[in-house]
Amino acid sequence: MASTYGAAQVLVASNRGPVSYSVGDDGSLHAKRGGGGLVSGLSAIGPDAGALWVCSALSDGDREAVRRRVGEDGVRMLDIPADVHADAYNGISNSVLWFVHHMLYQTPLEPVFDAEFRRQWASYETYNRAFAEALAEEAAEGAAVLVQDYHLTLVPGMLRALRPDLRIGHFSHTPWAPPEYFRMLPEDVAGQVLRGMLGADRLGFLTRRWADAFTACCEQFAGGPGDTRVGVHGLGADADFLRARSHEPDVEERIGALRQEIGEGRRTIVRVDRTELSKNIVRGLLAYRQLLDDHPEWRERVVHVAFAYPSRQDLAVYRDYTAEVQRVAEEINERYGSPGWTPVVLHVKDDFARSLAAYRLADVALVNPIRDGMNLVAKEVPVVSDTGCALVLSREAGAHEELGEDAITVNPYDVVGTAKALHEALSMAPEERAARSKRLSAAATALPPAQWFLDQLEALRS
Ligand code: G6P
Repeated sequence: MASTYGAAQVLVASNRGPVSYSVGDDGSLHAKRGGGGLVSGLSAIGPDAGALWVCSALSDGDREAVRRRVGEDGVRMLDIPADVHADAYNGISNSVLWFVHHMLYQTPLEPVFDAEFRRQWASYETYNRAFAEALAEEAAEGAAVLVQDYHLTLVPGMLRALRPDLRIGHFSHTPWAPPEYFRMLPEDVAGQVLRGMLGADRLGFLTRRWADAFTACCEQFAGGPGDTRVGVHGLGADADFLRARSHEPDVEERIGALRQEIGEGRRTIVRVDRTELSKNIVRGLLAYRQLLDDHPEWRERVVHVAFAYPSRQDLAVYRDYTAEVQRVAEEINERYGSPGWTPVVLHVKDDFARSLAAYRLADVALVNPIRDGMNLVAKEVPVVSDTGCALVLSREAGAHEELGEDAITVNPYDVVGTAKALHEALSMAPEERAARSKRLSAAATALPPAQWFLDQLEALRS
């Protein structure tokens, strides 16, 4: 039987892979490599470890690359039919599971689990099965498989049935919903999700809070977690990479440009997010407006630098949210701005070098999500900041478990309270701000991505 097994000793499976392709005007294919914790984690095990990353083709360029058999070493892209992927990714993953775990539904209009939902659910099963089959084909005997996130909750159970010899782990990068919210899902679907996950030997979460919520759901709806172990791995910021990258020439150049936009001698409140409902960007802007109302002394003396990068634009609710962010920012600028002062500098085009430039300049970082698995921005800003920055942080971000002591904590729904926190942060004495920032940076880098990944691998194998 062993001869039918694949060669990979360590496999990662995720919807979004480490590389994406686009097709040029002349038909040529261009690969773009992404960053993130998993990329540096997987590279930490070394090139000879027989590692394979299984991911989905997301764009037309990716599908074209799969068709032409163009690929990167160590990456297998699955050519899942575009309509199946759209149902599984836009429909179930991002409009249902993401909404459940981030508790984003706005009753009484949502959710509606109708026949369309059932049709999409069938695609989600198909999509998960495609991953399970590819992993079963590629994995060497006894290999370790690390399945990622809410897109692939059924994979562990499906893979276990195909390949009982494997060590299977699953890691959730999101929060997990408490039982009273999770039970909103139709009973059979909720059961399938939990049983799918429990097919793993070990499940990982970013914080104790999300791990406990998962265990509570298992106890209420699946008769407990059984033999599956549940662990917590709080992914930290990649200090070495960030410090080096944030001093490269393109970042220095962006610093110059940003300084011009901000104006001489002004304080900066910085936020950097995907334009994501759970990030709570609009309430952040409203809190800034409240600050300008409550403390007119800050007018002309502060600028809110807000980067809201495009995300999940196939979904109408995300497009609407993007428009709302732009509308509120414009309204603030019209109402409060003067010829020499633009109160909100909003950028919506993704630019990593510019994000790092803003991190370096930040006096205050605003991180106010409604709910967030971890939130790496909260961890990255103190690491990169030139002079030390104050952190205004939502109690609902996973990062709050580690950073809460030195941050100024906010309730993300409380706009007046957030305005107060912004004032406190702007008024903090420089020595205190620097001391807190130093401690934040130490806490933020306690578990670098490479170690985060190796810890999971070791725990899975032990
Ligand atoms: C979250 C999820 C990731 C996802 C990322 C970006 O961090 O946990 O799995 O890749 O958002 O979202 P996207 O839909 O663009 O992949």
